[in-house]
Amino acid sequence: MKQYLLAFALLGLLTVPSRSQNRRSVGKFEEVFSWKQLTFDINGIPVVQDRFSEEDLAGRDKRATDNIYFNYNNDDDKDWNRRPPGHINGNPIDTPSLAAIDPNEEIGRFFIQYNNVIMGAEKVGNRLFVTIPRRRFGIPATLNYIDLSVHGRTRSPPLTPYPDMARSRSLISVYRTRADECGRLWTVDTGTIEIPNNPRYLQTPAIVVFDLKTDRQILRYQLKTSDLPGNNTPTGLASITVAIKNGDCSDAYAFISDVVTYGVIVFSLKQNDSWRQQHNYFHFNPTAGNLRVAGQSFTWNDGVFSVAVGPEGPDGCRPTYFHPMVSSQEFSVSSCELESREANQTAYTVLGDRGTNSQCTMHDLHAPTNVMFFAEVGRDSVSCWNTERPLNPDNMEILAQDSQRLSYPSDLHVTDDEVWVTANTLPRFIYSRLDTDEYNFFIYRAKVRDLISGTVCAGNTRPSPGFSPSYGGYHRS
Ligand SMILES: *[C@@H]1O[C@H](CO)[C@@H](O)[C@H](O)[C@H]1NC(C)=O
Ligand SMILES: *[C@@H]1O[C@H](CO)[C@@H](O)[C@H](O)[C@H]1NC(C)=O
Repeated sequence: MKQYLLAFALLGLLTVPSRSQNRRSVGKFEEVFSWKQLTFDINGIPVVQDRFSEEDLAGRDKRATDNIYFNYNNDDDKDWNRRPPGHINGNPIDTPSLAAIDPNEEIGRFFIQYNNVIMGAEKVGNRLFVTIPRRRFGIPATLNYIDLSVHGRTRSPPLTPYPDMARSRSLISVYRTRADECGRLWTVDTGTIEIPNNPRYLQTPAIVVFDLKTDRQILRYQLKTSDLPGNNTPTGLASITVAIKNGDCSDAYAFISDVVTYGVIVFSLKQNDSWRQQHNYFHFNPTAGNLRVAGQSFTWNDGVFSVAVGPEGPDGCRPTYFHPMVSSQEFSVSSCELESREANQTAYTVLGDRGTNSQCTMHDLHAPTNVMFFAEVGRDSVSCWNTERPLNPDNMEILAQDSQRLSYPSDLHVTDDEVWVTANTLPRFIYSRLDTDEYNFFIYRAKVRDLISGTVCAGNTRPSPGFSPSYGGYHRS
């Protein structure tokens, strides 16, 4: 009898579904992580619910980093704070939440779980860097990581501030990060806490670079006043893309997209200097501004959002692809034009139109296959396009689509022949209220070859002149 009981107990153990069996996939993307609400692991201490102070988390570093509470007052005499906080062009993502409690009541709180929304994720080796821009108070750290060798099998792992709690506080707010092939992690610190209707400009926006071997900050370059034409420009510094010249790590260029005042800021590491490119193609298309995402309808006017670079040619120039978020078009210009201070305005080209509801946040190119991947907020999807073909809807293919679990894909990047995608249901956070009993934040991955096989993006399925939309299992929903 005892033996039977034991056998039953063992059977019970074996048949309990493991956590990983709860994981789902969307299209060919495997869910790596998902969260209802974010938690942190700070100095080994789990932070799993709202905390009013940082007691016992930062220990003796606390005094040294008093700015951690962001409880400065409005009379702060820093030059940067004297800038009027108004939004001249009216950044639409700052429209106050209908359901919001007054966020200004939250000043000084260390962790307000609900306010923590993942925006970007970048995998480098065994670490996944995760960003949480400060659009509310109560965000312990804007730059964090997950150690994949420790948490690879957990569905909702805690985040750990990067490089550590104390040093993460030098960054006010980061939207997205990118690593380069020289072992560095690049970020743009907007210097701003984007409280709805009351943004707080705490420090000059800066490019901040970390050495991933030593986890030391190796560069903090403050953008110039001429890089930041509007009072609200800091709130629009959505992404950074890095390109190395001739394999020389000291000769790197960074391209920062400014979605709010419509420009690309170029930084040269070698020249230790930055400048701004303007072009009509960096502006939004007014007819593409009505969006319906996560059950919310709204009108946005975000301009140039993402810059993706192609392979370097013999002349040292790369094709550079970009699009405004509110647009279905894709554009291109040579990196050498962006790198020259007086870009030739007629050298910018229109590549084509991606199709209905293809409004896109980030895109990234997989160089070995020349396939571009798009994170499309307009249709809750990820799509591909083989850049060797003309850009039109027939040469695009939706690889994954889900109005719940791919709602507002906010980041996408290609690394190690994999595509990593983040989705965060952002419009519901902004205009309504997230359901904290449901999964709201998702990170996915898929192998490039699995994604494109059998699609119109695969290299071996070149369209013939008689190319028909039903070719190669082509479908669109
Ligand atoms: C780079 O330029 C900034 C001014 O923008 C200056 O403060 C800094 O010292 C320079 N760094 C180097 C390494 O020259
Ligand atoms: C500017 O670019 C256009 C298109 O590529 C080209 O025809 C023209 O010669 C360029 N102008 C200059 C001054 O380089």
